[in-house]
Amino acid sequence: MPLPKPITNDQREAELAAYARDQQAVAGVEHLRFFPQSISGGLGAWLRTSAGREVLDFSASWTAAAFGHGNEAVAEAISAAARNGGGASVLSSAIDETTRLAEGLIDLVPLRETDRAEKRAYLGLGGTDANTVAIAAARHVTGRSGIVAFRGSYHGGHGPSEQVSGIGIPVGQDAPQSRLVEYPVAQSDLDHTRAQLTSLLATEDFAAVIVEAVQCDGGVLVPPADFLPLVRELCDAHGVLLVVDEVKAGLGRTGQLLAYQATDVRPDLVTLGKSLGGGLPVSAAVGPRDALSEPRASALLTTAGAPIPAAAANAVLDLLEDGSLARRTARLGEIARQALETYRASDRPGHAAVVDVRGRGLLLGLELGSVAGFSPDQVAALAVYRAWELGCALYVVRDNVLEITPPLVIGEAELLEGIECILTAIDDVAAKHVPLDTIAQYGGW
Ligand SMILES: Cc1ncc(COP(=O)(O)O)c(C=O)c1O
Repeated sequence: MPLPKPITNDQREAELAAYARDQQAVAGVEHLRFFPQSISGGLGAWLRTSAGREVLDFSASWTAAAFGHGNEAVAEAISAAARNGGGASVLSSAIDETTRLAEGLIDLVPLRETDRAEKRAYLGLGGTDANTVAIAAARHVTGRSGIVAFRGSYHGGHGPSEQVSGIGIPVGQDAPQSRLVEYPVAQSDLDHTRAQLTSLLATEDFAAVIVEAVQCDGGVLVPPADFLPLVRELCDAHGVLLVVDEVKAGLGRTGQLLAYQATDVRPDLVTLGKSLGGGLPVSAAVGPRDALSEPRASALLTTAGAPIPAAAANAVLDLLEDGSLARRTARLGEIARQALETYRASDRPGHAAVVDVRGRGLLLGLELGSVAGFSPDQVAALAVYRAWELGCALYVVRDNVLEITPPLVIGEAELLEGIECILTAIDDVAAKHVPLDTIAQYGGW
């Protein structure tokens, strides 16, 4: 495999031309852009740009490409299912491939409900509809409508999932359909968490608490170990359901199959998405039968759980089956953290910009601070722009935090090369080699 190489002038021109076509054709409402990347293909941990440049992928498309670009097992499964035919909707008939996926998910996801016959899996298209269905299920089974969520959480891009998300909501102004609680990051925060949750759950009627075991889009925040057990305890005390959103952190990324398995907490409902489809749009909500099976025909998406995406997801579950990928991810995560901490302790030009290195497994956050007169947010935006120029793609997850989530299949050498690319980018920002106007047109969040 090649080393990441800085972009040449010819490549820049070709990539900008391809990018300009996207700008003229694809709706801006689905753009979250940090640099003019234009992709034509990829293999493993590498993306191939429209100019034929190889770029190391340190985002894995916001984790959706967790099992690598062009994954052979996933490609085989998709191609076999596509050739097999057999319908494109599970709405009005059972489909073997889809049934297998639902059964696999029921076996994979440990829940409060342990009786297999009492569990069901909703199959969807994205994390957004999986969370919408989980919220509706909690409302249906409790007969209540309130949802408690956490400040900084992201549960979806529209509808109820967006309405209960705590991202970008100023303190004191809760999201329209939820009450927001601070997400704790230290053991000493837990008294406050207990007090906030207790006062809400004791005084108002809530259907569910929805939470991420590692808060991703809030800036990759890892809570203290006692956090989820505390939430479970308080949900139980007040007869409220616990929904754990594993859309980004789930399926091996944190070094556990599911991020909440770092605790012995068993949620009522769990949602999955992104990497579940191996690149195809597949999501799931797994929970109790009585919550997910009624009202009949109330969450209909014609192509959700269709056999081709279901086959891709079945291939993904097969890849995870023996647990070795998750174990390897935990080890690679430690190597990555070590490299980032070594830089922080070094005397390289940008080292002082590193405020914090955090996360679990290959779900890492690099928080940056001011350097060379730039604000923390500018440093973050300039660093990812420069990293892309140098041959490594990653994004700003929140304000001044870079999200490091390469495909789980990345090699150790590639991982270290990509990190070196990011660190060189931070050095270049600190040395004022990256002008502020280069990022002016990429709005990010
Ligand atoms: C934790 C979490 N939940 C839900 C979603 C929404 O998933 P999707 O964009 O696939 O609808 C996201 C997306 O970023 C997420 O990170």
